[in-house]
Amino acid sequence: MHIDQYEGLFIRLAAVMMGVFAAAVVIAVFGLGIQLPGAVEQIDPRAVDSAPGFSEPGLREIYPGRYEAHVVVQTWQFTPNQITVPRGSEVTFFLTSKDIIHGFKIMDTNVNIMVIPGQVSEVTHTFNESGTYQFYCHEYCGALHHAMSGLVQVTDTEVAGE
Ligand code: CUA
Repeated sequence: MHIDQYEGLFIRLAAVMMGVFAAAVVIAVFGLGIQLPGAVEQIDPRAVDSAPGFSEPGLREIYPGRYEAHVVVQTWQFTPNQITVPRGSEVTFFLTSKDIIHGFKIMDTNVNIMVIPGQVSEVTHTFNESGTYQFYCHEYCGALHHAMSGLVQVTDTEVAGE
């Protein structure tokens, strides 16, 4: 079978590119550890009220300076919408939506994630500066999207033991 010189060139070029893309996926998964949310982070959005952690949303102290916050997200509110921790606290937020896609962004931090029904979104941040950090929904979700917000209060008392 005759293959035109240029066609052959492009066939080889396409094969090389597919090899590069496949290698990029392998490196991302096994080298950098980038993963899509797994089954452990999935949740029935109709059963959020009885799900572990989300049945009693709020802040829990794991040990001094280390907190976990379970936040239930729905149109148009965060529960809880006020969280208070001492300066220097590391807080892991677990969020899930009961209805549609929302967002969770904390001002003046790198925290900026999607909150998707059926999944638990997890993000950790250390609050080294005292002050008031507003968080809000950054995915348009309807009439009161703009009012969907809350506050993290970081008090000036340092974490005990530091
Ligand atoms: Cu929730 Cu916008």
